Amino acid sequence: MYAPKKPKLRFLLKLGILIAALLVVYFTFFHYNSDGSANDATFLLPFKKPKEYNVWLIFTKVSQRSPLRYKFHNLLENILNISSVPLKFHIIVDNSSKQLAVGEISDVVSHSNKAIFYKFYDVEACARAISDIVDVMTPHFSSKPGTYYSDALFYISLGLYRIAPPSQRTALLLDCDLYFKKDIRLVFEEFDKFKPTALFGLAPELTPVYRHVLQTYKVKKNSTFGEYYHSKAISSNMQHPRGFQGYNSGVVLINLSAIRKSKEYSQIIRNETVQYLTSKYKFRGHLGDQDFYTLIGFEYPDLIQTINCGFNRQLCVWWREHGYRDVFDFYFKCQHPAVILHGNCNTKIPK
Ligand SMILES: *[C@@H]1O[C@H](CO)[C@@H](O)[C@H](O)[C@H]1NC(C)=O
Ligand SMILES: *[C@@H]1O[C@H](CO)[C@@H](O)[C@H](O)[C@H]1NC(C)=O
Ligand SMILES: *[C@@H]1O[C@H](CO)[C@@H](O)[C@H](O)[C@H]1NC(C)=O
Ligand SMILES: *[C@@H]1O[C@H](CO)[C@@H](O)[C@H](O)[C@H]1NC(C)=O
Ligand SMILES: *[C@@H]1O[C@H](CO)[C@@H](O)[C@H](O)[C@H]1NC(C)=O
Repeated sequence: MYAPKKPKLRFLLKLGILIAALLVVYFTFFHYNSDGSANDATFLLPFKKPKEYNVWLIFTKVSQRSPLRYKFHNLLENILNISSVPLKFHIIVDNSSKQLAVGEISDVVSHSNKAIFYKFYDVEACARAISDIVDVMTPHFSSKPGTYYSDALFYISLGLYRIAPPSQRTALLLDCDLYFKKDIRLVFEEFDKFKPTALFGLAPELTPVYRHVLQTYKVKKNSTFGEYYHSKAISSNMQHPRGFQGYNSGVVLINLSAIRKSKEYSQIIRNETVQYLTSKYKFRGHLGDQDFYTLIGFEYPDLIQTINCGFNRQLCVWWREHGYRDVFDFYFKCQHPAVILHGNCNTKIPK
């Protein structure tokens, strides 16, 4: 009768133990996402999570003839036409706008050859989920307090990590007045370039609005805050030596997992921090979340990834005619190829 020699038996035993150990490590660390949700494709790609393409839109207070209806329709049509990745749309609606959204979506789908995945979220529930953030931000960054949930809509991006399902790891929140010149895939690829500490990705504001907001602070302090981006350093000893125009929130990339994990973030959205920042910079804004991102980007630059202006090529020229003609073009210039055009302040988008 054949009996295996001892060394071979020992080898097989060791191999067995090794395999068992590897399985334990795998199921402990790789099988679940950091937020605890199971990951369907982990068996195929044990070390790489599948990419997800979550697009968030806000569609509220819409009536039959409101411009938002057409903007929403055009944006959906445009994105479906030009994009190559499987998108999931997450749409924040109120009860009456929901029916109009359904109508627009089925119209777009019937005229394209693509199916779309979408899910609705009730604006009142969203507002409730972020009411503490809204209470802290509104006195500093809203022009006039409105209704309970119209205020909240200004700050959705800051609390989206509570609204999105816990399994959702990243999100792209878009205004509806956008036009994609290129594949939305390019925007999602920017997540891969985030520095490890970044929670949000934003493109610069392309007008002197923050020069205006910060004028009181700037006369007193020799600061680069609100200054347009120079090609060379204008100050060697400051945090932002080449200037800092602030951010625009028409396109917001959000690493939801990173925010959920971040201890710093919960500190930063506290009343004390917001009070400290707004009084330090004598900052009184009116543009909601993007005012806050601008302050955070100046004070805690690690938390925001600056994506290039081609990803949010704003077109609004209002400030050119309102006291800033001499410097407007320094803010407005954008040398990167446009991926997204942003028809802000109701600017018509040239196609
Ligand atoms: C769809 O996208 C292609 C480029 O991918 C473009 O040439 C065409 O004009 C677009 N059509 C519409 C209706 O936007
Ligand atoms: C909207 O609908 C939901 C559920 O259908 C309901 O709970 C909510 O009260 C409604 N809101 C308004 C403002 O009618
Ligand atoms: C934030 O702090 C200020 C100043 O201490 C206070 O007046 C205000 O009521 C606080 N706001 C919130 C939402 O706690
Ligand atoms: C501001 O600071 C820069 C260097 O950081 C210096 O070159 C410049 O002269 C200063 N301007 C004023 C008005 O103090
Ligand atoms: C987002 O943040 C998490 C946690 O910090 C990190 O593991 C991940 O690589 C980041 N980027 C993306 C695209 O998920």
